[in-house]
Amino acid sequence: MTKLDDHTRRDLEALLPLIEKTFPIPPRFRRGLGNDVAELSRLLTSARGERALAYLNRPPLLSAYLYYFLPWNLYRLCRLIPSLDLPLAPGDTIIDLGSGPLSFPIGLWLCRRDLRAVPLKFRCLDHSRGALEAGKKLFAALYSAAQPAPRPAGAAAPQGEPDCPWAITTIHGDLGQFHSHMREAALVTALNLYNELSQPISPGNDAGQRRFADKQAALLSGFAAGGGRLLVVEPGTPPSGRFITLLREALIGQGRPPLAPCTHSLPCPFPALRPPAAGRDTKWCHFAFDTEDAPAGLHRLSAAAGIPKERATLSFLLAGPQGPGQPKHGGPQSPAEQKARIVRVISSPFPARADGQAWGRYACGEQGMVLLRGAKTAVEAAEPGTLLAVRSTGERDPKSGAPVVTAP
Ligand SMILES: C[S@@+](CC[C@H](N)C(=O)[O-])C[C@H]1O[C@@H](n2cnc3c(N)ncnc32)[C@H](O)[C@@H]1O
Repeated sequence: MTKLDDHTRRDLEALLPLIEKTFPIPPRFRRGLGNDVAELSRLLTSARGERALAYLNRPPLLSAYLYYFLPWNLYRLCRLIPSLDLPLAPGDTIIDLGSGPLSFPIGLWLCRRDLRAVPLKFRCLDHSRGALEAGKKLFAALYSAAQPAPRPAGAAAPQGEPDCPWAITTIHGDLGQFHSHMREAALVTALNLYNELSQPISPGNDAGQRRFADKQAALLSGFAAGGGRLLVVEPGTPPSGRFITLLREALIGQGRPPLAPCTHSLPCPFPALRPPAAGRDTKWCHFAFDTEDAPAGLHRLSAAAGIPKERATLSFLLAGPQGPGQPKHGGPQSPAEQKARIVRVISSPFPARADGQAWGRYACGEQGMVLLRGAKTAVEAAEPGTLLAVRSTGERDPKSGAPVVTAP
């Protein structure tokens, strides 16, 4: 999760006044915004059962989404996307499912400036017409406010935005009814959708969760071209971590190996299963990072709503093109390979020895979960999600049983 670069930080900062200008809230309702944010937060978490299907069609909840949830989702996306291998070429199609106010195109616009002049086609589906319309308005305002690079000769101009190289089509409908006749997309995305869709399945119903993940894997995979990629991002909670693990497994079955965060296609070492024994923690694949570089105005609104956010979390999966893909690994290795391996840093740092002399972080590689151990400053230095070459120490962590590795 790379820190925001200067351009993206500046553009995200400028987005908040743009949202206020594009969707002004009369002063008498403005005072209630903090409460509306708190209410929508409740409906999205502890009171999910009370949430109406097209909740974003209700103006106070849509305002709360646009002013608070959208900018935080964009912030998380802008920390994630630059570290992902997302090659997009002129003419490529991107399908965004449960797009809400076009969060994915807007996030991509903010943090992939290199793509702004590339003609891309977006198909954004949601069953809230209000959210899609708001997204179109916001993207148009964002585009007008920017000074994009000139459009390459011959690129099609989308409706309503004569110069914008990005053609965005919104599709108002339910995911269950959406058909894409061609397996057309270079990229299929679904952000913060599945924690809503899987809500009726109880977390204890693992067979039901597995069936749900299998179905979604087939659906996502069916929208993508053979060489296309799939990106699913969810909140960093154990149920979402479980879904991501199951989706990953199902996509491997569809011949779409994980590209990130996994460094391998072997069974997930962070499967978010309920702890088998008392005293054991649930280990789920998620990334938590500080939010120091998030817009100051967003921090102020969060504090006013009573939900200050010093840290953001997410779980995600980028799955790759169909075909043989990356090797599963796990085969015979030379002694040098066995000693130096690539792992992805997953957890936050914690004291790994009672005397405080060593710190640790859990990481993931083809040998499964490992404990990365070292001096506090060295262990703290890596951003969550960083790939590191590590060396085995030959020891095991007494708490988790994980092999202990060090970063040279
Ligand atoms: C939490 S919002 C996420 C919006 C956006 N992707 C983001 O990350 O900001 C979930 C979105 O999924 C949409 N949604 C939920 N179930 C859906 C379904 N069955 N079909 C289409 N859209 C759905 C909701 O209307 C909402 O806009």
